[in-house]
Amino acid sequence: MVNQSVSLRDIKTRSQLPALAASLGIASYVEVGVWRGYFFQKMLAGVILATAVDPWDAALLGPALNIQSPQSLQDRYYQNMLDLTKRNTGVTVLRMTSLQAAKALKGMRFDLVYIDANHTFRAVSEDLRAWAPLVAPGRYLAGHDYTSQNGFGVKNAVDEFQAETGWRFHRTQEQAMSSWFLEKPQ
Ligand SMILES: C[S@@+](CC[C@H](N)C(=O)[O-])C[C@H]1O[C@@H](n2cnc3c(N)ncnc32)[C@H](O)[C@@H]1O
Repeated sequence: MVNQSVSLRDIKTRSQLPALAASLGIASYVEVGVWRGYFFQKMLAGVILATAVDPWDAALLGPALNIQSPQSLQDRYYQNMLDLTKRNTGVTVLRMTSLQAAKALKGMRFDLVYIDANHTFRAVSEDLRAWAPLVAPGRYLAGHDYTSQNGFGVKNAVDEFQAETGWRFHRTQEQAMSSWFLEKPQ
């Protein structure tokens, strides 16, 4: 449960997202790129149904994110998420890539899809277009690392998608690694 009330206009940091989700009445949440599940578990405080999407494949960490981490650790993170489904019946875990999951969930509508997977321009562009149809009207597509630094293409991909669609844009105010939000029209 989250008690504090936050609006999209006032949000300053990603740590306020569980409170924002509760304020916006976010019932269904998808996190694309979950890794250790740290942020996903924080978000559980503000939502009812939560879907975790990640291939937990060490080979996909390096090129996309500049992270080196062994496969044994990815397997453990996945197992931790499976354990979480036993304690929380609102949690679903999909061990697949972003595009595979968007295809598998075709036809469903979510209140908030948070993209934090492969951070290259091409991958973020594809993720935005794959997940946009799965966002309910008037609800939110969002993600992490709104930047062009560190070789990330997140900012450029989000800006291009926003210019094409006209979806209203918001962001958190951290210097680095801010979160972005796009509001789908009704
Ligand atoms: C930065 S981490 C996610 C961190 C997490 N959202 C958090 O805030 O705690 C990025 C994750 O994206 C995953 N990933 C990489 N390529 C992916 C893809 N094509 N589809 C989905 N997830 C992917 C990686 O396995 C990694 O776990």
